[in-house]
Amino acid sequence: MFKIILKITEMAQNYVKQVLRDRDVAVDATLGNGNDTIFLSGLVPEGRVYSFEIQRECVKKFKKEIEIKGIRNIEVINDGHENMDLYIKESPKAIMFNLGYLPGGYKNVITRPETTIAALKKGLKMLSPGGIITIAVYRGHEGGEEEGNAVLDFINGLDPKIYNAMVIKYVNRKGMAPFLIVIEKNCSVGGDKYNNPDLL
Ligand SMILES: C[S@@+](CC[C@H](N)C(=O)[O-])C[C@H]1O[C@@H](n2cnc3c(N)ncnc32)[C@H](O)[C@@H]1O
Repeated sequence: MFKIILKITEMAQNYVKQVLRDRDVAVDATLGNGNDTIFLSGLVPEGRVYSFEIQRECVKKFKKEIEIKGIRNIEVINDGHENMDLYIKESPKAIMFNLGYLPGGYKNVITRPETTIAALKKGLKMLSPGGIITIAVYRGHEGGEEEGNAVLDFINGLDPKIYNAMVIKYVNRKGMAPFLIVIEKNCSVGGDKYNNPDLL
């Protein structure tokens, strides 16, 4: 059945699909089982996907999976997304974050506000003009609400001359429903302004 209001992960992918072209660079900041990474890989057949994950088992499993499938445009990095600037020299057109813990995995390995914000700052600086960052925020677990609030505070402070940011949330769900943040870097941003971290 055709639906407009989807899961936030599906809505995130729908936004990303609209900006990515064959040769673009994309980032999955939270590999997990690799759903977003595989999705991104298909959208940039002649480009590159950088994918970050701190859990070594996830990285190992996923590397084996892409080797078997013969997928060659993905670079899987066993390091935190807060270090993305050490690995990526290009300007990504899309960066996807999926916060919280890995469903079916260790519930005590979660994304944390300090590292998430550090990664967002770096991601925004590196993002290509016209590019987007999507952040799927889950709040039901311990620490999830705190992280969600920290991310919202950070997003609220972004300069509207450089970024457009919006939150998509379910308003008629009980409890700590997940929500989606989409940030777009304006196409007109370039030159010194684009590289000036003080403008973040
Ligand atoms: C909600 S899951 C991601 C799910 C994933 N998008 C998928 O398709 O399966 C969050 C993941 O972020 C990872 N993670 C936590 N802190 C991280 C960090 N600083 N850098 C990179 N990954 C991190 C966790 O280990 C976990 O696998």
